[in-house]
Order: sequence, then C-alpha cells, then structure tokens
Amino acid sequence: MAGVKLQNIEMKFGETHVLHTMSFDIRDGEFVVVVGPSGCGKSTTLRIIAGLEEPTSGDVFIGDQRVNNVAPKDRDIAMVFQNYALYPHMDVFENMAFGLKLRKFPKAEIQTRVNEAAEILGISSLIHRRPKELSGGQRQRVAVGRAIVRKPAVFLFDEPLSNLDAKLRVQMRTEIKKLHATLGATMIYVTHDQTEAMTMGDRIVVLKDGYLMQEDRPLEIYTNPANQFVAGFIGSPPMNFFATVAEGSTPMLLNEGSFSVPVPGDLNIKKGQKIVVGIRPEHISLAENGILSATVEVAELMGSESFLHATTGKHPFVARVEATHTFKTGQTVRLAVQTDHLRYFDGETGERI
Ligand SMILES: Nc1ncnc2c1ncn2[C@@H]1O[C@H](COP(=O)(O)OP(=O)(O)OP(=O)(O)O)[C@@H](O)[C@H]1O
Ligand SMILES: [Mg+2]
Repeated sequence: MAGVKLQNIEMKFGETHVLHTMSFDIRDGEFVVVVGPSGCGKSTTLRIIAGLEEPTSGDVFIGDQRVNNVAPKDRDIAMVFQNYALYPHMDVFENMAFGLKLRKFPKAEIQTRVNEAAEILGISSLIHRRPKELSGGQRQRVAVGRAIVRKPAVFLFDEPLSNLDAKLRVQMRTEIKKLHATLGATMIYVTHDQTEAMTMGDRIVVLKDGYLMQEDRPLEIYTNPANQFVAGFIGSPPMNFFATVAEGSTPMLLNEGSFSVPVPGDLNIKKGQKIVVGIRPEHISLAENGILSATVEVAELMGSESFLHATTGKHPFVARVEATHTFKTGQTVRLAVQTDHLRYFDGETGERI
C-alpha cells in the first residue's frame, strides 16, 4: 500500500504547456477522482504517475519513494483504461493471468489470484469465455480483474466506464466503490463526468487547462467552490450565475426589478465592481410571495422533480421544483431565493469573493 504525491509537476509537449505546477497529495488507501473538461490534462497526469510519460520538471512519489527514474513496471501500480484492450484470442482466465505469467508467477499462485479476482467481480461463471462472448460491462470487469490480480499498491483508472451505457455505468460505479472498500488500495480515478466525481470520490481534484482549480471533499467543493469554473462544473444542472455590477449608495449586487440582493457587508465589495452572483437550482423555489418574478421558458419533467428553465428578463436560470407543478411557456411565476446560499465571484477573475 502507498500514497501518491505530485510535487510541482510541469509538463510540456514541445511548445504546448499542458500541466502547470501540479501538486497534490493522495493518502494511502484514499479514493481520489481527478475531474475536468476534455483536454485539461487528466490522462497526462495519470500517465506521469504510471511512468508512461516523463514530466518536464517536478517530482512523483509513490509511498516514500521518488519514482521519477523508476520504470513503469517497477512502480507497483496497475492502470485500467477506457478501451479495455483485452486479448481477443484469450479467454477471461488467460486475459487476467497474462500479466502474472509475464512476471513468472508460479502456476498455483496465478490460479488462486485469478479465481479470487473473478469471485470479487462476480465473473467466475464466465472464466472460459472469450471477450467477444461478453457484454461491455463484463469486459470492463475483466479489465479491472487484470489489475486486481497484480495486487498493486495503487490503481489508476482512466475513464474506465465511458464506453458503457448509462445504466451499466451507474452499476459499475458502485461496484468500483465496493471494490475499493474490499481492497483498501489507493485509487486514482479520472473522469470528465462530474456525477462520477461527486458519487465516487473521497476527495476530488478539479483541473482546468492544466491548472489545479480545487481539491477537497465532494460536498465541500459543491458547497464552497473556489471559483466560478468549479461552481459551474460540479453540479447538475449547474449553479445559476447572475452577472452584475455593484451599484448605488446602498450598494445592490443584483437588481432584477423585484429581485435585488444587497452587498453583504463583510465581503468588501466596491461600488462599480463586476460581480457574478451564483445560486444553485435547489435554492430557488416557487413561492407566491417570493422576491423573484420570472417568465417560464420550459420545464423538464424528471419524474422526481422538474427543472424549471425561466428568465428574469436579464438572466436565464434553472430552478428545481416539485414534479407535480405544470407550466406554460411565457407564464409568469414568483420564486423565493435562499439568500444564505448565494455565492459571490469576482466578475474579472472568477475567484470566489
Ligand atoms: N503526446 C502529446 N503531444 C502533444 N500534445 C499532447 C500529447 N498528449 C496530450 N497532449 C495535449 O495535452 C493536453 C492534455 O491532454 P490529456 O490527454 O491529458 O487530456 P484529458 O484531460 O485526459 O482529456 P480527455 O477528457 O479528452 O481524455 C491536450 O491539449 C492534448 O492535446
Ligand atoms: Mg483523457
């Protein structure tokens, strides 16, 4: 078992600077999700940890050991990729056993480890099938099994579920979490899916354009995003943003007719400063005497609730409301806003105020 530490990693591919002073510290046994939009540097980060890519500068530690000069095969890690890359001519057993055979493990040990992994993953009955005789989810399990039999100190997952259909993804999500509880190994899981990040991570690392935006526990990131990017990326539907300028002698942040938000005194916001006010959809609700008057654009019925898309005239926004309500496009509604859940961002830098 071992933790993983990145220290001031810079990564350049020729002129392209893909990772900027990337530092984070993953504790032994932790499940950390690295999340961010396409191209932000998630796979590069994983590949640097795995030793498949050499950073331009900075240090990588696995446990107490600096591993910059350690070959991938000696790093005590196993990686599971999006395309499971199983050998088509080998059955499930042989696919899982392959890495151990290469490493010259004794036959009996291979047998025990593969059977154990198959048991954990619930694929014992499929052990003599070839990949083409398996469903996508079963194949993904074999790919995970191939990692488990190695008993590595650290598991690296690079978007392992993105080839699966929505229902299977949800199922495999819980299975990987259970696996983590069973094995207790350190796991680093890369995804661009904020739901996977929220549901799976003990901790989340959010990346954008090769910069680390925030690292913290999921609920902390959701409740107290460090900047407007994180606030908009984590959460679905995303946080609503109202761009505004602090105005007046009693400074008003938002002035949407009936809906206005005074500047909280402790935030040190100056008159004329550009501000973005953020509020999550669940903190806006229908209320006859609500302070916000808005026009309905469309309502999406989700079954358990509806996402009401409306506009103040200046700003479109989404509210989560009860599914029992029905709406007509163009209808006027009144809504209440839980002002203690308002978040304020600098309109220039996007940083949380
Ligand atoms: N070998 C390479 N040469 C040049 N540029 C590269 C190379 N590998 C990656 N990049 C660039 O580095 C950036 C980060 O790529 P990376 O694969 O880490 O992104 P990612 O976050 O995993 O994206 P995705 O979600 O699409 O998989 C991208 O802009 C990509 O084009
Ligand atoms: Mg990637």
